[in-house]
Amino acid sequence: MDQASKLRAQVQRSETNNQSSCRTIAVVSGKGGVGKSNITLNLAVSLATNHQKKVLILDLDFGMSNLHLLLGKSPNYSLVDCLQYGISIEKAIMEGLNGLHYMSGGNGLTDIFEFSLDMRKRLIDELENFAYIYDFILLDMGAGATEQTMAFLSTAEELLVITTPEPTAMTDAYSMMKFLHLRYENRPFYLICNRAFSVNEGKEAMDRLVSTVKQFLKKDILPLGIVLESTQLRQAVINQEPVTLKYPKDEITRTFSQLAEKITVRSFENNIERSSTLSFFQKLRKRLLER
Ligand SMILES: Nc1ncnc2c1ncn2[C@@H]1O[C@H](COP(=O)(O)OP(=O)(O)OP(=O)(O)O)[C@@H](O)[C@H]1O
Ligand SMILES: [Mg+2]
Repeated sequence: MDQASKLRAQVQRSETNNQSSCRTIAVVSGKGGVGKSNITLNLAVSLATNHQKKVLILDLDFGMSNLHLLLGKSPNYSLVDCLQYGISIEKAIMEGLNGLHYMSGGNGLTDIFEFSLDMRKRLIDELENFAYIYDFILLDMGAGATEQTMAFLSTAEELLVITTPEPTAMTDAYSMMKFLHLRYENRPFYLICNRAFSVNEGKEAMDRLVSTVKQFLKKDILPLGIVLESTQLRQAVINQEPVTLKYPKDEITRTFSQLAEKITVRSFENNIERSSTLSFFQKLRKRLLER
């Protein structure tokens, strides 16, 4: 069975099982280069391998979608190809390691709104069809906030903010959270501090951000955890393999598994029901079609 037929079969199975929902989490940062793509990828691997979840990564860094470089595999088609040449979504979804699915935003998409309403509608209809097979869709976003990024970002039910302990990254993370909070007040925000040199350094940075957000934005954010500076992660990037697969016994792999565990548990604490697919696509339709 080829990949496209497998996907179709899974969609049919999910529809008959009435598993009609998944959680959508956008991974964002203020400053660029703080580790969004690596964290998205390794959380996805961990959700899939340690927690048996079906995960789709959508690489929505349209300026320079490059998450596939961390996977060591190149997708044949991207979301831009779907829009531009009418390629079907199932062709653009690449089956990665351990059943992980990946779709690239493609490069050079400067304005999604340049595409006709019909094309955008077809894209959303098709995406919606496929969402039924996933437990999680993780959106790897570009840094900062363009109109296009915001159109996709606004559809995610949950937001995962990445920072490092550096003051510049923290200040930008705060600005991003302020910007997002003013628009999407009620969504849960999670925080990960990446590249800390010690647990203490990471904890202090997170505490500071959590209390600043609480004081000035009156918003509770959930500190998910700390990812330490890791030579294994750097090595894995060079080898184009997710660190969690390359070094399954390393501390960093345990860290990602714990973070993934917190994310799965969080749904119950937060009453995030597995019904958010509907609102994800309702919002996507609104943002991409009603303009
Ligand atoms: N925990 C870590 N330990 C060591 N190096 C890291 C760690 N996290 C990220 N890096 C380094 O930082 C680089 C950038 O990471 P990544 O591409 O994930 O960031 P990004 O936020 O997605 O960047 P962009 O904003 O450009 O999309 C990696 O290639 C890696 O070299
Ligand atoms: Mg990135």
